[in-house]
Amino acid sequence: MKSKFYVTTPIYYVNDAPHIGHAYTTILADVLTRFHRMQGVPSFFLTGTDEHGQKVKRAAEKAGLTPKEQADKTVVRFQKLWEKLYISNDDFIRTTEERHIKVVQTLLKRLYDKGEIYKSEYDGWYCVPCERFFTERDAQAGTCLECGRKLEKIKESNYFFRMSAYQEWLIQYIKEHPGFILPEYRRNETLGFLQKPLGDLCISRPKTRLDWGIELPFDKDYVTYVWFDALINYISAVGCCYDEEKFHKWWPATYHLIGKDILTTHTVYWPIMLKAMDIPMPECVFAHGWWLVGESKMSKSVGNVVNPMEMADKYGVDAFRYFLMAEMSLGQDCNFSEEAFIRRYNADLANDIGNLLSRTTKLIYSHCDGCIPAVEMQPVEEEEILKKSVLEAISLLEESIDNMRIDQGLAAIGTAIREANRYLEKRQPWTLAKENKKNLLHTTLYYAAETLRITSSLLEPVMPKKMIELKQTLGIANEEIKYEDIKQWGKLKAGTKLGKSTILFPRITNMAELKYDVHKEQEKCDASYITYEEFSKVKLVVARIIEAERIAGADKLLKLKIDIGNEQRQIVAGIALHYAPEALIGKQIVVVANLKPAKIRGIESNGMLLAASSGDKLHLITVDGEAISGSSVR
Ligand code: MSP
Repeated sequence: MKSKFYVTTPIYYVNDAPHIGHAYTTILADVLTRFHRMQGVPSFFLTGTDEHGQKVKRAAEKAGLTPKEQADKTVVRFQKLWEKLYISNDDFIRTTEERHIKVVQTLLKRLYDKGEIYKSEYDGWYCVPCERFFTERDAQAGTCLECGRKLEKIKESNYFFRMSAYQEWLIQYIKEHPGFILPEYRRNETLGFLQKPLGDLCISRPKTRLDWGIELPFDKDYVTYVWFDALINYISAVGCCYDEEKFHKWWPATYHLIGKDILTTHTVYWPIMLKAMDIPMPECVFAHGWWLVGESKMSKSVGNVVNPMEMADKYGVDAFRYFLMAEMSLGQDCNFSEEAFIRRYNADLANDIGNLLSRTTKLIYSHCDGCIPAVEMQPVEEEEILKKSVLEAISLLEESIDNMRIDQGLAAIGTAIREANRYLEKRQPWTLAKENKKNLLHTTLYYAAETLRITSSLLEPVMPKKMIELKQTLGIANEEIKYEDIKQWGKLKAGTKLGKSTILFPRITNMAELKYDVHKEQEKCDASYITYEEFSKVKLVVARIIEAERIAGADKLLKLKIDIGNEQRQIVAGIALHYAPEALIGKQIVVVANLKPAKIRGIESNGMLLAASSGDKLHLITVDGEAISGSSVR
């Protein structure tokens, strides 16, 4: 286990509103921090805003504001979003704060006095949005190597940092520290970049051209280059130059999380700046990929920018956090679509974990007076399989945090939860109750509840609010739990009283928002030619059972609420002798959707389900794998 954990996000430009890319890095940092805090590792999580430079100045001019007004207005949008997304950062640094400015100036002075900074004439090409200078060779195409925009020619005196002197040292350092830049292909990218001679870095801008920056302590006519100012936030926030104790407590950072587009600044400029300032290197710069929309980069002009506020409002913060963490393999690009979001939500959250919780608690309420039962028998193979799957998920999650493959850890937890649902199907606690097999029934319900206790605790860093709600339902929300206890099977106390039950993740049924058009599918079905005229009139669709209850005085009947995509319906089915209501929730079945509504025992039934009878048994017709509710059956 680590002795401390210090993670940073890039500090975001305040020229525009936050988007999903910003939200992603910040949620990732939050999940990592919460996980380490849960493990008892002292942790510090820093984020903030990059408020100087040309970009912000131009945005301010466009908005008719001063740069400071622009920054003050936009920073609130970031801070509000972080609050909304349950971001638990320990500090938020703004580069316009006095505490930061002082550190930048102290360090600049130190470098200047050491002879690491010198003044010279610059005559060359410049990219305004990236604020980067280019040599004649790199500027041949007339466009920026980073963003592809047109370069501008400028000629002026400036201050330079002797970056080139450290090129060999940096190559050696990266080679000797394989974990310094991750993933490995990004490390190779930096090493590739370092094969070309490295120039010195221009670190000033004359105030006559740009006055929105930190003034150089040794020349009042200049301000600092925005990247020189920005990178220092990682050390200024934790006390560098003014609180040595704090600085030694947190620095070096465990991870600088960045997007792949700011690799050079973080893996070339930053280590060399630190080396020249005699400050130790961060442990790891981790570059993640990009969120794409329709396989292309998000861009305001294309109009495909995903607004994280809207997503969180529409589907809930926890689900949004879960989706981002589960969907992206850290390092690679990932496509964002609302359709993919809904599919994952329905499969992993509504169907797997939500279903396990509602079944388990309903059964405990019905058969154990709402208290966690005890294990009343020697566990056999079925119990061992479930326990093994849960314990495996714990170690895979821990590994995935260490290897920065959170998606894999979450997948392992998903596997354990599905295993618990399978276990219930196999043990059939609703039948055990009927047959009065109490020992096995209680053991089964304990195993299901214990799976929920462990998995919900492990998922808490990703879904902090929903997992607390889950624990409230299990009656264990108020317990102070040590990480070692979370990991240990059997810590759930028998006799614990369940809390109020809740539907954690209601299914998203509004499929109209999906590109997949159920109606069109149904029309296609209607239009297809079938020989038997009558049969062609029958409309069979896939439905999901969302509620099921017995009907008083009718022991063969169950009243079901089903979801058929565009609507929810009630049907009455004669299956009560074969299926317990709790066992049906979440199941996908096939129903006749165009049957004339009828009243059965005075209760309206709007459709009919299909089942196969074999001997005296009845088997519901279900679908293989997940289908969209409302899909037609042909
Ligand atoms: N201010 C600099 C960082 C200075 S750090 C000392 C900056 N700011 S930014 O606001 O433009 O970008 C911040 C981060 O957002 C970058 O890591 C960038 O890679 C990331 N993203 C921007 N668009 C993104 C996606 N579409 N997907 C994922 N992350 C992306 O750069």
